Amino acid sequence: MSRTLDASRDLYATARKYIAGGVSSDARRTSGVPLYVERAAGSRLWDVDGNEYVDYVLGQGPALLGHCPPEVVEAVSAQVARGIVYSAQHAAEVRVAERLCAMIPSAERVRFNTVGSEAAHAAWRLARGHTGRRKILKFEGHYHGWLDPVLYSVHPAVDLAGPADAPVPVSGTAGQPEAADLVIAPWNDLATLTRIMEAHAGQIAAVVCEPVLCNTGAIAPEPGYLEAVRELCDRHGSLLIFDEIITGFRLAPGGAQEYLGVTPDLSVFGKAMAGGMQVSALAGRAFVMDSISGGKVAHAGTFNSQPVGIAAAEATLRILDERREEVYGTLYARGRALMEGIREVAEKAGVPLLVDGPGPVFQTYFTDAPAVRDYRDFARTDRARMALLHAALLERGVNMVPRGLWFLSTAHTEADLAFTVEAFDGALRSLPLG
Ligand SMILES: Cc1ncc(COP(=O)(O)O)c(C=O)c1O
Repeated sequence: MSRTLDASRDLYATARKYIAGGVSSDARRTSGVPLYVERAAGSRLWDVDGNEYVDYVLGQGPALLGHCPPEVVEAVSAQVARGIVYSAQHAAEVRVAERLCAMIPSAERVRFNTVGSEAAHAAWRLARGHTGRRKILKFEGHYHGWLDPVLYSVHPAVDLAGPADAPVPVSGTAGQPEAADLVIAPWNDLATLTRIMEAHAGQIAAVVCEPVLCNTGAIAPEPGYLEAVRELCDRHGSLLIFDEIITGFRLAPGGAQEYLGVTPDLSVFGKAMAGGMQVSALAGRAFVMDSISGGKVAHAGTFNSQPVGIAAAEATLRILDERREEVYGTLYARGRALMEGIREVAEKAGVPLLVDGPGPVFQTYFTDAPAVRDYRDFARTDRARMALLHAALLERGVNMVPRGLWFLSTAHTEADLAFTVEAFDGALRSLPLG
């Protein structure tokens, strides 16, 4: 059972001398030894010690078609030979933009960036520039990247965060300028949102959310909630922004906006749109994007529409669009089967475990509660125990996102699921009594 991690441990010891904290992103910090990946293919990862893992992290979501889908590898290899960076316009970006506008309900114009944080930043700036208003309303527990203006109230200490129905902005890091023009609201609470929007009438440029909240559990909007948020935005002249960095292409070819049937004014995409390459996009209705078209709102970037990333996006989007029945049929079927398998072993083991989410992404929570609706509910779940489960799963060859989030890909097979459910059973039973 016990796997050797000697090579990983050696690398980590050296890394800590040269890389701050030994890791290149805070999301990779761990109390143990970080995963040192040697290679990845399909649903699998291998570490530098030769251990094999069924991977449900998938690069934090991007590998929706599994690691190294052959069509994407081929497109990337062909493009590398024709040029890695142009910082100029090219034909493939026009084709990808056209396909995005056809796939995404709210997309009439797009602009490309490199990573999600940049695209999210562009959306906030555009909303402010377009409306001439300063304030943005964001929900507690929602994540929109790691840049200064947005890194507030993601997973705040509850004793600093104010009352549940009147949350205050809580900074996510030292070194951050004060929360300027930021209004915080609880998720899934329409009465409170209505009151907060009225209190700031005429001042809110945009309401921004993860339409299915995936950075704090996997929490869907309650029935009718997002429709009502859309109406509130219209009534107050505020734009509605969907951050679809996780939900985009994962829940449906047109993202959560297609899955839920609610159309925002602006949305941002990244992660799954390019088979693992780093491409993000800001998409929106023409009348809003015109503020960029006309040069009123600045948007730039050396690597925007970098041709290798765009080649990967073109190959990925072609599959998602043209083979949608097969792709989404597989993602939902596998995700729901895994959720059910995990529920069954938890029930048999007598462990109070909530398994919730749409399927292509879902969350496991240690809680007695029948549902988790918002950040405060999430904060009451046993997160320390989830960290122990993560370590126990890794030892058994299963890699989930440490906070208990699971990403599915079309490469996960029924055999992978059976292996995972068995590993989950063993991991659950190995935990100290809670
Ligand atoms: C919803 C959401 N928005 C924005 C981001 C930031 O994206 P990136 O890490 O590519 O900058 C993330 C990253 O996890 C995300 O989940």
